[in-house]
Amino acid sequence: MKDDIPDQILEKVSIFPNMPQAGVKLRALLVKEDVSTGEIEEILRRDPGLATNVLRLANSAYFGIPSKVSTLKHAVMLLGVQRFSKIAVSACASKAMDAAVEGYGLSPGELWLHSIAVSTTAEALTKNRKLPETSDFFTPALLHDIGKLVLGEFVKKELPKIEALVANGVPFEIAEKDVLGTDHAEIGALILSKWSFPSDLVNAVRWHHYPEAAEISTLQPEIVYIANLMCQSNVDSESAEGQQIMPYPSVLNQLNIKSEQYNAFAEKARSWMEKLSDTLTFD
Ligand SMILES: [Fe+2]
Ligand SMILES: [Fe+2]
Repeated sequence: MKDDIPDQILEKVSIFPNMPQAGVKLRALLVKEDVSTGEIEEILRRDPGLATNVLRLANSAYFGIPSKVSTLKHAVMLLGVQRFSKIAVSACASKAMDAAVEGYGLSPGELWLHSIAVSTTAEALTKNRKLPETSDFFTPALLHDIGKLVLGEFVKKELPKIEALVANGVPFEIAEKDVLGTDHAEIGALILSKWSFPSDLVNAVRWHHYPEAAEISTLQPEIVYIANLMCQSNVDSESAEGQQIMPYPSVLNQLNIKSEQYNAFAEKARSWMEKLSDTLTFD
């Protein structure tokens, strides 16, 4: 796939920063069965800034813990090890994703907010559909739009051409591909490969707009695709503001979701997003 991507863009991928070490270690805990509080604390203790962010996120109304927590131990106790680890991975991602993303019109914090909303929605969908807990649906949902961080400056340069296509009804990611020779999903997959992430996660990010094209059938691309659509609002430049886009019926069938269930879930996802944006402030 790399062959068609312009060299300048590939060069930016090659200098894209690595995932913070703490993030790599915490992510590995997500698919482990027995994780102790001590293991998590050990990782976070090495990065006090990260620990502060984790507590900030854990205390947000979004995660619904009943009382404010001030220690990692207390947060793990209330949230459970798995959920806490996910919050910690999200906090890691905030380092890269807090910034504004030019080209996509995302102001500071917006990409991160969208990413957290999609990952939490994906997690809720996974539970609702009783999908295997051994697969990681959370991480690809969290990182699905990471390619925008590289592609933003290129999109910005060609925005009039891209917007002209979008105005004619071409989906944004197809317009990106037509004009730039690649799209943010493909670039996101390259970043995850560079980070040596497992192929199922790379695949899920690669196909988050077109799950039917995925080479491996793991349901991860489908879940990320549906969760992303559910969380669309004006913070996601992939859709027109406030426009409700219905997913491909074949994907809904695959996950056994009826359209009424989809709508109810999407409404819930939007209210979670509101709660999250009310609680978190970005500076
Ligand atoms: Fe996307
Ligand atoms: Fe998205």
